[in-house]
Amino acid sequence: MGIDKRKNDHIYLASSDLSQVGTALFEEVVLIHNALPEIDFSDIDLSTNFLGAPVKAPFGIGAMTGGTELAGKINAELAKAAEEFGIPMYVGSQRIALVKPEVRWTFEVVKQNAPSIPKIANLGAPQLAQLSEKQLVDWVVQAVDMIDAYAVAVHLNAAQEVVQPEGEPSFRGVLEKLKIVKRAAGRPLIVKEVGNGISKEVAAKLAEVADAIDVGGLGGTSFVAIEGARAADAWLQRRVAETFKYWGIPTAASICEVKSVYRGFVIASGGIRSGLDGARALALGAHFFTMSQPLLKATLEGRLREEIEAVITEVKITMFLTGVRRPQELAQVPRVYGPRLRAWLEQRGTTC
Ligand SMILES: Cc1cc2nc3c(=O)[nH]c(=O)nc-3n(C[C@H](O)[C@H](O)[C@H](O)COP(=O)(O)O)c2cc1C
Repeated sequence: MGIDKRKNDHIYLASSDLSQVGTALFEEVVLIHNALPEIDFSDIDLSTNFLGAPVKAPFGIGAMTGGTELAGKINAELAKAAEEFGIPMYVGSQRIALVKPEVRWTFEVVKQNAPSIPKIANLGAPQLAQLSEKQLVDWVVQAVDMIDAYAVAVHLNAAQEVVQPEGEPSFRGVLEKLKIVKRAAGRPLIVKEVGNGISKEVAAKLAEVADAIDVGGLGGTSFVAIEGARAADAWLQRRVAETFKYWGIPTAASICEVKSVYRGFVIASGGIRSGLDGARALALGAHFFTMSQPLLKATLEGRLREEIEAVITEVKITMFLTGVRRPQELAQVPRVYGPRLRAWLEQRGTTC
């Protein structure tokens, strides 16, 4: 099956409900209402930094796409909105443009439309595992240059690769390759999941190389479900995708796991569906959050700016109702955790 068809299938399937699986457990994070906030709504200031770069909100556009005509149009729309709102933006995996230079433009539109915001390059761990050191350095340099990247993200997508009909489930040697990526990039390295979450054991291993961990937890877009839907003629992939659809670490639990062992920058993603969910992620200790699927859907429906505006307003309302002026103060607000999250934290010997 052609890679163009695969990329466009991902876009259409991701924007439908069948791609949304499980719970991120944000409903188990109840921030305590403050009836006496002692601030004015206008006192709230969302500006913060993203790995050292000043940005207007603790919120950005997650890694999604590139490589086809449709993906190029989506990237241009996302980039324009990111520039207007002063928020960072990841691109999707750039492998396609490294093997097919004629589609580089579908990523280059991001630097053209968003010159001033932090842009994040993206490569996949399984491909890195297969490249020689020389090729890898070349790919990283090209990926950075293509979008004038501020940081480089490498995605870990073991569950997707193992259920995808044309998947490459080869992860041997990835940790060593990450060190090469970091040296070649000369920029912050973000290691991210794509919807199955990062445990404290993995975070501890990544601590020596990653400047940031993006938890990419369970509870939003599921690539296992998407690959299952794509595998119409492949009965075995369809079957295993159904079996492993709910596999992973819910995003709220993953943030707590990562925070318990990792001192770097923590980005929350996976199933964040409102500014309230985003504020809950910050309350759990994340420095930043991103959304992917809701922004993709909003772009396809021509209401991207409204969606971003709504998320930002919801973060501000949560801050007003908990009496905090700056996003980082959310980590201190009183809260109650529901039984599933509490049980998870207890059994994993983690506090949050
Ligand atoms: C259409 C689509 C394509 C994606 N492609 C990539 C990708 O190429 N690289 C990557 O790191 N993550 C990719 N992701 C995963 C997202 O970055 C994110 O981890 C995941 O969608 C969970 O966030 P969400 O629940 O807000 O969608 C993609 C997500 C979507 C919706």
